[in-house]
Amino acid sequence: MVAQRTREVEISGIRKMFESAPPDSINLGLGEPDFDPPEEVVEAFCRAVREGHNHYGPSAGIPALRDKLAERYRDREPGTGRENVIVTGSGSEGLMAAALALYNPGDEVLVPNPGFVLYAPHARLAGAVPVSYSLKEADGYLPDFAELERLVTPRTSALVVNSPSNPTGAVFPKSVVDRLVAFADRHGLTIVSDEVYEEIVYETPATSFWGRSDRVVIVNSFSKMLATTGWRIGFLVAPRPLAIELNKIHYHIMACPSTPAQMGVLAGLASTAGTRRMVREFRARRDLVVRLLGKIPGMSLVSPGGAFYAFPRFAWPHSSQDVAGALLGRGVITTPGNAFGSLGAAHLRLSFAASRPNLRRGLRLIADYAGELAENGP
Ligand SMILES: Cc1ncc(COP(=O)(O)O)c(C=O)c1O
Repeated sequence: MVAQRTREVEISGIRKMFESAPPDSINLGLGEPDFDPPEEVVEAFCRAVREGHNHYGPSAGIPALRDKLAERYRDREPGTGRENVIVTGSGSEGLMAAALALYNPGDEVLVPNPGFVLYAPHARLAGAVPVSYSLKEADGYLPDFAELERLVTPRTSALVVNSPSNPTGAVFPKSVVDRLVAFADRHGLTIVSDEVYEEIVYETPATSFWGRSDRVVIVNSFSKMLATTGWRIGFLVAPRPLAIELNKIHYHIMACPSTPAQMGVLAGLASTAGTRRMVREFRARRDLVVRLLGKIPGMSLVSPGGAFYAFPRFAWPHSSQDVAGALLGRGVITTPGNAFGSLGAAHLRLSFAASRPNLRRGLRLIADYAGELAENGP
C-alpha cells in the first residue's frame, strides 16, 4: 500500500526513547535548548501576527531577512548577497531540500558515523546510497583522510559534514576544514555543511565552509541559535546557480517559510546577546558534565568543544540501547549512541539542555548504575 521508500525509512531512535520515558524522568535526551527565545524575538513574532503578517510570503524568504543573513556571511565571502540565501522551514527541511536537489539515484553520499540522524535517510529518500565515514573517539572525532580516500568511488557525489557535531560535540579545526575542502574539490564532490551549532562553541570558533568552495551548500537554522525549535525556521546559503535549484525543491516541499516566524528571527539577528548568554550557561554545564563524568568508573569522554552534547563511551559489555534502557528505568533519559550510527555503539549521548541540578542528579543516577556494574559484574 505504501511506497518502498516509506517502508525503508525509520523514525529516529531519539524519538522512540522519549516516547517510552516514565513521567518525572530527568531528561538528558533533549536536542533543543531549554531556554526561551530572546524577548525581542518573541515580541517581533507576536507583533507580526497582530499586524496581519499572516499570509504567504516569497518562497525564498522575506527580502529583509535574506539581506540580513547575507550580511552575516560576507566576512566569509565578500560577494554574498540576498540571492545566495534561502529561508527554509527549519534545518531539517534545508537538509531534505539539499538532498533532493543534489543527489541523483545511485549516487554515493559520504555521511559521518556517528552523525546526525537525518543524513543517511535523506540520501536514501533521494535514491542515493549513504556511505559512512568514521569519526573515531581516538581521533577526537575528526575525519580519517586515508579512509575518506578509500571510500570515494566514481559514483560519489557529495560529502556531508557537521561541525560542531551532533552527537560528538567535536569542532573541526581550520586545518581539517581546509583538508576536507581540498579532498572534495579533488574528487568533484559537493559539500553539504550542516552548521546549525556554529554559534554554540566553547574554546575556538567554528570554521564555516562558506567561501571555500564553489560546490558547497550551508545548512543553518535558528532553532538552536535563538532557541526557536518549535517555530521551524532555518536557512540555506549556496552559490547562486545552486541556490536557484535549491529554491525549486524548497518551493515544492513547503511553498514558503512562515512569515511571522521570519519577522521574529529577523529581530533576533540585531543582537547576539541572547545567544551569548545561553552559550555561557552551556559552557558551565559542559564543564560540570566533563568533571562529573570523569569520576564515573567505566566511562570516558572527549570534552566537547561545541554543541550541547557529551558523547561518553562506556566499557561495559552491553549495547547502548540496553544501557540507555537500564538508565531509563532508573529515571534518567539518555540517547543510545547507536541511534547515530554503528560507531555510536558503546556510547550514550547526554544533552546539557537540562538545569545544573538536573545534570547533577542525572549523572548521580548514571554513577550509581556504573558503581553497581563495577561491584556485581555486568
Ligand atoms: C546537526 C543538526 N542538524 C540539523 C538539525 C535540525 O534542526 P532544525 O530542523 O530544528 O532546524 C539538528 C537538530 O537537532 C541537528 O542536531
